Amino acid sequence: MINEIIFVLLTILVFKTWIDLLRDEAIFVPLPKKTIRKILRAAKISNKDFLVDLGCGDGRVVIIAAKEFGAKCVGVEKNFLLARIANWMVEKEGLKGRVKIVNKDFFKVDLRKFNVVFAYLSKKVNAKIESKLKKELKKGSKVLSAAHEFKSFKLEKKIKTGHFYSYIYRV
Ligand SMILES: C[S@@+](CC[C@H](N)C(=O)[O-])C[C@H]1O[C@@H](n2cnc3c(N)ncnc32)[C@H](O)[C@@H]1O
Repeated sequence: MINEIIFVLLTILVFKTWIDLLRDEAIFVPLPKKTIRKILRAAKISNKDFLVDLGCGDGRVVIIAAKEFGAKCVGVEKNFLLARIANWMVEKEGLKGRVKIVNKDFFKVDLRKFNVVFAYLSKKVNAKIESKLKKELKKGSKVLSAAHEFKSFKLEKKIKTGHFYSYIYRV
C-alpha cells in the first residue's frame, strides 16, 4: 500500500514538473551541495543573516545555510510535494527552530524582512521577480543567483560553479 502511495505521489510530481517545463517555468533541478556551499561561502553568509530561498525544492539550500553557516532561513516552494519533503528534511535535521518552509508562490510572499535572497530559477523567472526584489529588499541586501543573471543589481562576485557561473549581487 505504502509503495502504491509513493508511486502515485512521484507520478504526480513528474507530471507537474513536465507541465511546468512546457510553461517555461523554473522546474525542480537540485543544486549540488558543494555548489551551494561555494556560493554561501563566497557571499560570507553567517548567523547574522535572514535568508530566503525562492523555490527551495527539497530544502537543501536552507538546510545548509542554517546548519553550516548559522543563518535563519525560510524556504518558499509552490509544489506541495516538494514543500512536504523539504519540511520533513528540516525536521529530520533538527532545524525547526531556524528554518521554516512555506508552501506558496514566492510572487505572493512579502520579502521585506530578508537580507539575503537565494535563487536558482531561470532567466525568464529572474526577469519577472527582479522588480519585486527591487521594491521590497532593503538597501545593502544580497541576492545570490545560481546560473542566471539579474540585470539591475550591483554585481559583487561572479564565481565558477561547475559548468555554469553563479552571481552575488548587492541591492
Ligand atoms: C531549479 S529548482 C531549485 C531548488 C533549490 N533551490 C536548489 O537550489 O536545489 C527551482 C524550484 O523553484 C520552484 N518554483 C518555481 N517557481 C516558483 C514560484 N513561483 N513559487 C515557489 N516556488 C517556485 C520549483 O518548484 C523548483 O522546486
